[in-house]
Amino acid sequence: MEEVLQPLVAAHGLVRTFGAGPGSRRVLDGADLQVEPGEMVALLGRSGSGKSTLLNLVGGIDRPDGGTVEVAGLRLDRLSERELTRFRARHVGFVFQFFHLIPELTGEENVLLAARLTGGEPERRGRELLRRLELNGAAGRLPHTLSGGEQQRIAIARALVNEPSLVLADEPTGNLDPAAGRAVLEILRGIARGGRAVIMATHDREAAALADRTVAVVDGRLQACPPG
Ligand SMILES: Nc1ncnc2c1ncn2[C@@H]1O[C@H](COP(=O)(O)OP(=O)(O)OP(=O)(O)O)[C@@H](O)[C@H]1O
Ligand SMILES: [Mg+2]
Repeated sequence: MEEVLQPLVAAHGLVRTFGAGPGSRRVLDGADLQVEPGEMVALLGRSGSGKSTLLNLVGGIDRPDGGTVEVAGLRLDRLSERELTRFRARHVGFVFQFFHLIPELTGEENVLLAARLTGGEPERRGRELLRRLELNGAAGRLPHTLSGGEQQRIAIARALVNEPSLVLADEPTGNLDPAAGRAVLEILRGIARGGRAVIMATHDREAAALADRTVAVVDGRLQACPPG
C-alpha cells in the first residue's frame, strides 16, 4: 500500500481583499496551495501579485476573508489569537521581506532571543547558523550599522534557530550577492531535505531553479509552473 503523507500546508480557496468600497482590491481570489513535508516550493509572481499576502496567511500573521488554511493539522481559523501566537512560535520560521529586526538588539541577540524562549540547544544552533552565514563580524552590532545583506542573513538565522517545521521566506536572497545567496539557498534546501518544508517567494531564477517545484500567483490564484 502506498504511504499517504499528510500535507504540512493545505490552503483552500483563499480570498484576501484590502480596502473597502470601490477602491478595494481582491488580491487573492481562490488561491489553493498544498505543500508536503520535505518540499521546497518557490512562489513566483510579479510585484504586487500577492506573494507576501499569501505567506502572511499561511503563517498565521494575517487572516483570510474567505477560504481555509491548515498547517501541521491545525485549522488556523479555529485558533484564538493566543493559540495562533503559540502556533507560530512552534511551527513557523518567518523570513520577512523587510527583516523586522529589533533595533535595540545586536544581530546575535536578535537570533538568540528566539532561541532563549525555548532555551538550551537552540543557542548552540544560533551560533552555528551565524557562523555558516558568515556573520561572525556582524553578530555583535546593532541592525542600523549592518548592510541590507547582513540584516537579511541575521533575519534568516533568527527564523531557523528553533527548527520550525515550516519556513516561510519572503525574498530571502533579495539583498545578497551570488555567493551569500547560494549559502542561504543551501541552508533552505537542507531544511527541506530534513523533512521540513520551505515556501520561498522570489524573483530570483537561480533560487526558483533550486526548488522542488514552482508556483505563481496569477490573478489571485496559484498556478503550477512547468519545470525548467
Ligand atoms: N495591509 C495592506 N493594506 C492594503 N493593501 C495591501 C496590504 N498588504 C498588501 N496590499 C496590497 O496587496 C497587493 C499585493 O501585495 P503583496 O505585498 O502581497 O505583493 P507581492 O507579490 O509580495 O509583491 P512584491 O514582489 O513587490 O513583494 C499590493 O497591491 C499591495 O499594495
Ligand atoms: Mg512581497
